[in-house]
Parts: sequence; C-alpha cells; structure tokens
Amino acid sequence: MGSNTAQIEVFPSPAEVARAAADRFLAAYQEAVLSRRWFIVALSGGSTPKLLHALLAASPYLESIDWARVFVAFGDERYVPPTDDQSNEKMARETLLSHIPIPEAHVFPMYQAGGVEEAAAAYESCMEDLVGFEGPDLTLLGIGPDGHTASLFPGRPSVHVTDRLVIAAKANAGVEDRITMTVPMLNRSREILFLVAGADKADAAYRAIKGPENWDQTPSQAVGRHAPNVHWLLDEAAAAKLE
Ligand code: 6PG
Repeated sequence: MGSNTAQIEVFPSPAEVARAAADRFLAAYQEAVLSRRWFIVALSGGSTPKLLHALLAASPYLESIDWARVFVAFGDERYVPPTDDQSNEKMARETLLSHIPIPEAHVFPMYQAGGVEEAAAAYESCMEDLVGFEGPDLTLLGIGPDGHTASLFPGRPSVHVTDRLVIAAKANAGVEDRITMTVPMLNRSREILFLVAGADKADAAYRAIKGPENWDQTPSQAVGRHAPNVHWLLDEAAAAKLE
C-alpha cells in the first residue's frame, strides 16, 4: 500500500479537539447525504470520543443532522455484553445514541452472545450488507499509549490480516477478547478521524505519524499512513513530540 498525506491539526485542549471533530462529523454527514442520501459512521471506543458525543447530542449539531439518515457501526468492541462498563456500545449509548432520534435499526452493535469468533463473523456479514465493497463514510479512531488503534494491538497478528473485514482479536490489556475491523476494512473508509488527547499519547502519536514504519510496534500506522483520507486531531499535550 502506498503512503498517504494525512492532515494534522493541533488544538490547545481536548474540548477544542472535540469541537473540530464535531465540525468534521457534520461536514462528512452533509457530503454523504447530499451525494449518497445516507451517512454511515463507525464509532470508536475508549474515553476520548465522549466529548465529541456530548457535542453531537446537543445544539447546534443535534438539530443539524437528520439522524434517520445516519447508520452507526463500531470499529471495535470488547467482547463483553452491552451492560458491562467496559463495553464500547454501552459508552456510545450512554453518551450519544440514547440522546439522538436515531432509529434502533440503524445501530449495529458488534457484541452478540455465543462466542467471539461467531460474533466477528456475523458482524463481517453485517458490514458487507451495510457497505458492500465500500466502507463507512467516516470512521472515528483513537490510539492507545502503546500505539494500538481499534483493537489492533502491538505484537498481535491482527494488524496483518488482509483476507477478512472483521475479526476476533486479542488485546494486550483490559478485556482480552475483542472484535475489530481489520486494516482493509478501516482503510476503505472515505475519511478517518483520529482523535488523540493527553500527554500519555505523545510518544504513540509521534511513532504513529513520524516514527519508523513498523506495524508490529505501532499498528495505528497501518491505518494512519495508508487510508486514503486521514485527519489527525490532537491536543497540544498529545502533539508535544511532533514539533
Ligand atoms: C477501545 C478503543 C481503542 C481506543 C484507544 C484510545 O476499544 O479501547 O477502540 O482503540 O480508541 O484505546 O482510548 P482512550 O480514548 O480511552 O484513550
């Protein structure tokens, strides 16, 4: 895969990162609905997206989006039920989905009981039905201090999988069993937004954006340097090593 030219924007605070992300979310929605009638977005997990979710669930973004034209997928999930505090679906429902008038049929959770491999295979079929040979209009991602993104972790084979769109994967910390979109699926996205905030991300952000390319050490490079349309939105603390 050829390398891309990612756009990088740095903001003084996490709140301003979230505001910029909300503006990009709205712009991506408007472009998608204007040209394709629907907007398909893959949400990220963790805690960084919470500020963005709060903005989208309130004015002016709430009323600027026709949520009946929005379809919500997930980039990755911890293999726990949506009642578990570690669930990305639970976080998304609490901070965004329960505050917007989106039809429940437009929300595609990753978790299903019966085993992580089966859940991943089912989600892969669901994504094939939803996006066909294309990808989401917008995929939101974060990075961990170890350089992972979605649930593609350092030293794990998952970042190198090319014949699947969604797989079961192992994490290096937290909930071990994960479901994640693969690099080929993530890189089909029309736009990727990395939201990165906090001093604990400074080293990983440097490695992801400027360091020597090594996907086993920094899996986020596989998306950040190769997806066709990548925007990095960082706060100053996370961007400290980029200058
Ligand atoms: C997850 C996320 C993961 C996240 C990073 C950053 O399931 O944990 O999808 O890839 O984006 O770990 O998490 P924070 O935003 O909590 O720092």
